[in-house]
Amino acid sequence: MPTAAERPLEPSPRLVRRKRRDRTEWWTETVGSLPPVYGERWREVDGRAYRSFDPSRSKLAAGIARGWRGPVPAAGERWLYLGAASGTTASHVADLVGPSGAVYAVERSLRPFARLLAVTERWPNLLPVLGDARDPASYADLVRPCDGVYADVAQPGQVEIVRENAALLLRDRGAAVVVALKTSSMGRTRTAAGHLERAEDELAAFVDLAPSVRLDPFHRAHYLVGGTERPAEPPAPGPGTPRRRRATPRAPPPR
Ligand SMILES: C[S@@+](CC[C@H](N)C(=O)[O-])C[C@H]1O[C@@H](n2cnc3c(N)ncnc32)[C@H](O)[C@@H]1O
Repeated sequence: MPTAAERPLEPSPRLVRRKRRDRTEWWTETVGSLPPVYGERWREVDGRAYRSFDPSRSKLAAGIARGWRGPVPAAGERWLYLGAASGTTASHVADLVGPSGAVYAVERSLRPFARLLAVTERWPNLLPVLGDARDPASYADLVRPCDGVYADVAQPGQVEIVRENAALLLRDRGAAVVVALKTSSMGRTRTAAGHLERAEDELAAFVDLAPSVRLDPFHRAHYLVGGTERPAEPPAPGPGTPRRRRATPRAPPPR
């Protein structure tokens, strides 16, 4: 059970590390309510509820357990989550941003989306979006400018999907970009390391990269990659230079 004496991982005081004999556990202080989302353990300490953040179930948790030094969702932030499935990791991201933050959870398949909806009933800051991440304009009206994007759509072309979402829906400067790469879903023409290298090259065009981490043994041949988005280049001199489109601030969607 986490205690106040345990050191939180900066910059997210809502993420607690607990040393237990020969292993380290991770917990998120939750904003949700029972029942558990995926069978995770719940504990209450000093009136605060925590959920175990299981690296074998969540690639974000696996990345943190493997020493990820890139961005982690922090209290008060808004995150765009692409490929939310039934909310396993998305609910932890909502825990990390806390009650003053929000997570827009995009999922395109009806079956996991139905389970995600049931989770969002118990997580007031987790906002479900039924949509295709390849078409961010189709849900841009529902999303206020975000501080970070987390993508786990497990398909080829994921970095391009992230780039388009980032251009439209992230705030202008220094936003976070975190991508879970499942190399076995990215084609057979490259090795896992080759897929990683290509994804890093593509991301490096608009992101200052943190060191990528491999997620074995929790998730075979998966990586967590990403970093901090660079500000858009100033437009080249000359008339009619197209600018990156950004979502304009809007009122939060009704719940
Ligand atoms: C590996 S699962 C995500 C697991 C989830 N991120 C977690 O950790 O709990 C990938 C999900 O992405 C969804 N997905 C795939 N392509 C998508 C797209 N273009 N737009 C939205 N969701 C997509 C799939 O339906 C699936 O639910």
